[in-house]
Amino acid sequence: MTIQFSTKIFPQADLQSVKLRKTSLKSLLSQASDCLVLAYSMADFESFGGTKAAKTKSGLLMELDQLLGGSVSHAHAVGDLDAKQASVCILRSEKSWSLNGVKSKRVLLLSLGDLHLASERSLTTFSKVARAGLKALSGGSIESAIWFIPSFALAHKADFMAEEVRLTIQYAGDQAYRFGVRQPAMKFKAKDTADTFKQLVFAGNNACAKELKAAVEQGIAMVEGMNLAKDLGNLPPNVCTPSYLGKTAQGLSKKVGLKVEVLGRKQIEALGMGSFLSVANGSESPPQFIVMRHQGGKVGEAPIVLVGKGITFDTGGISLKPGEAMDEMKYDMCGAASVIGTMYSIGLMKLKKNVIGVVPTCENMPSGQATRPGDIVKSMSGQTIEILNTDAEGRLILCDALTYVERFKPQAVIDIATLTGACVIALGHVHSGLFSEDEGLVDALTKAGKASLDTVWRLPLDAAYHEQLKSNFADVANIGGRPAGSVTAACFLSRFTEKYKWAHLDIAGTAWKSGAAKGSTGRPVPLLVNFLLEQK
Ligand code: BES
Ligand code: MN
Ligand code: ZN
Repeated sequence: MTIQFSTKIFPQADLQSVKLRKTSLKSLLSQASDCLVLAYSMADFESFGGTKAAKTKSGLLMELDQLLGGSVSHAHAVGDLDAKQASVCILRSEKSWSLNGVKSKRVLLLSLGDLHLASERSLTTFSKVARAGLKALSGGSIESAIWFIPSFALAHKADFMAEEVRLTIQYAGDQAYRFGVRQPAMKFKAKDTADTFKQLVFAGNNACAKELKAAVEQGIAMVEGMNLAKDLGNLPPNVCTPSYLGKTAQGLSKKVGLKVEVLGRKQIEALGMGSFLSVANGSESPPQFIVMRHQGGKVGEAPIVLVGKGITFDTGGISLKPGEAMDEMKYDMCGAASVIGTMYSIGLMKLKKNVIGVVPTCENMPSGQATRPGDIVKSMSGQTIEILNTDAEGRLILCDALTYVERFKPQAVIDIATLTGACVIALGHVHSGLFSEDEGLVDALTKAGKASLDTVWRLPLDAAYHEQLKSNFADVANIGGRPAGSVTAACFLSRFTEKYKWAHLDIAGTAWKSGAAKGSTGRPVPLLVNFLLEQK
């Protein structure tokens, strides 16, 4: 299911202030809801007696205890309350609660642990706490919850709060995501296991109201983009064809006013994209070249261009892949999905920037028409390419797209691709590979990754690696051998990006999960959205 997010402002509510604490708790508790989520720190826990059954109690938990007729003390006495970071305790309503006007059916107490200490404070530790809270809300009978932000945002720094709110929404969206619920055409399973938890209300006070509302809106838009990216990735390759991606992009023009153009084979031929077309040769599905424009900035402002690899199925072509887990090559369009998802997100946000999303998309199939190893093709840039392995097809479709985007005189170009198995070996499923010679882009993307916990790790692009791409018969070969396979793939792309600032993201290890939890992750939509939000 999709989850509803909203905000509610309790003007004066402040749990840090000793003076305002009691009235704040009263107003939060008097709001009818299935669950009120509050956070407590190590200090709050200590002043409530810590691990001992102390006689003198004070502070937040004590005042809450009074309003809840001893429920907190009871939980403490039986050992349900803990100082350990991310521990969760749910208090359920009893008769005594209503005497104090409490309308919450439950109170979820979430331990921040040492999160108030600067040394412990990071988005990663916060994410553990938020995840634990969200997990406790899901899977039971709770349908809606109020999540009181100022009790989490202990640093009182507005920008930090926005990151935390967006991240909480990102995780809640992840948790609520189900395949096959947004469009009837996607319903492939008879049984659906939607979560009962449907509504998360972010409560704040006057001090944070403006930032909170903006962050919630951004978070909602980001989840929508992630959901779209996940859906496209998870769809079977007989449904999610190049034309399906084209139609999806066109659908966004109605939804959020993107200007969308979809070029077919004839137009792609006319542009001279011999490299791109050589990959499409073996397939019955026609290739598509999608251009999506978001005009949120000033007229004439140089755009940021995102280019996504859209191989809707990668068999390897004549250099056929082994059969094991080949189904996962339906995810070889996750770069494209992340670009389409990001364009949707920024459209919903009405981002004040010019951004163009470009997706070359086709299928890599073996057939009598398919490209052979040894074939030489001419790219749009004029460089000729000796195709030594038809399974190194991502770079062949991207290089023509990278030449095409020169016409936009971009401020920067970022391509996103499930490009190499070697990147999975190098970085696993934690970081996406980042390749760029532009220090500004490297810094901004690294920072955006950390802010969304959708992280990247830089890998080299030195001239020395280019040696491996030498061909005896053409300007360049499409493979560089086994050593540093991700680096030589990035080096190949770099030959087509000399006219602008460029970064390449290899998402082969991060775009989807295998095994029992098989499914698209929606990465790197959070990274890209955060990056674009930070661009001035
Ligand atoms: N789409 C694959 C990369 C890939 C493989 C991503 C496995 C995730 C998991 C890409 O088109 C490919 O096949 N790359 C080859 C390149 C090689 C032939 C130089 C690879 O990584 O093996
Ligand atoms: Mn391949
Ligand atoms: Zn591929």
